[in-house]
Amino acid sequence: MKNLLTTVFALSVACVTALVLTTAEAQAPNAGGAGNPAVPAVPGATGPGPAKAVAAPASPKSLEAKTAMCFGCHNIKGYQASFPEVYKVPMIAGQNAKYITAALNAYKNGDRKHPTMRSVAESLSEQDIADIAAFYEGLGKDERKAAPDKQREPDSQVAGLIQKANCASCHGANFSKPIDPSYPKIAGQHSDYLFSALRAYKTENNPAVGRNNGIMGAIAKQFSNAELKAIAKYVGSLDGEVATIPESRFHKH
Ligand code: HEC
Ligand code: HEC
Repeated sequence: MKNLLTTVFALSVACVTALVLTTAEAQAPNAGGAGNPAVPAVPGATGPGPAKAVAAPASPKSLEAKTAMCFGCHNIKGYQASFPEVYKVPMIAGQNAKYITAALNAYKNGDRKHPTMRSVAESLSEQDIADIAAFYEGLGKDERKAAPDKQREPDSQVAGLIQKANCASCHGANFSKPIDPSYPKIAGQHSDYLFSALRAYKTENNPAVGRNNGIMGAIAKQFSNAELKAIAKYVGSLDGEVATIPESRFHKH
């Protein structure tokens, strides 16, 4: 894992360096307005060296670098995580920015224990998180459909379960219009991921698995794993607004 992250990071740095150099070249002829033609016109960049430009906070280039780290998992259709459990990496394109922010902060502060996402989130500043969340909320807007107002009815077993915990009162009637933007859209999310997430809200005293959340903890604990699996299967089978958008569709290098 360390290796993957290192490689991804190295690649993204290389990519940003190339971009910065291109920008500097393109703008060199008319950079006089910036006072010093030797300085690339990158906001926040204080010196001519690419290394300093890469470290510039919150410029469009650093968003580029930070999201490059995510693409290897969240922008590959059907990509599976293998540790600590095997399930498909969640779809985050089209998810609410406020929820993405809340989730990343939960990994960062340890409320969510998933080890890879913890180390990813720890590397992000508040500004990085805000930029990345806005990016993913809008990603693929033109090719995604709005979820239907009314979803296919569940079978009677699942109907009873979701009624018992009134899932719709927070996640919305179609599981895609949560009452608060810091709550997730869950319709159409991968079922195996939903099941793993629901179990994680129940899991305690495990260093690598668990989600400490007052609301969902109380809800998930009312159900057996078999019941959670049935709920996850139904919710995942619905039409939703979250998607995996492959990098080739929005990004050409
Ligand atoms: C090595 C693969 C990998 C990389 C790289 C990665 N993620 Fe994740 N991400 C995952 C997995 C697996 C999960 C599910 C973790 C869990 O079960 O809590 C996840 C969960 C998330 C969630 C929570 C989704 C939800 O529905 O609650 C967000 C948001 C997220 N990642 C954003 C990012 C961002 C932004 C980046 C890049 C800065 C990134 N991830 C990089 C694998 C990855
Ligand atoms: C009182 C409001 C409320 C109710 C009722 C509720 N949820 Fe949630 N749900 C939330 C919030 C808030 C979160 C985000 C928690 C976090 O940050 O980890 C969440 C998160 C989730 C997640 C994790 C999604 C992801 O992408 O990781 C799943 C799955 C989920 N809920 C399913 C359900 C189901 C199924 C029900 C009914 C059995 C339900 N919820 C009822 C508020 C609610």
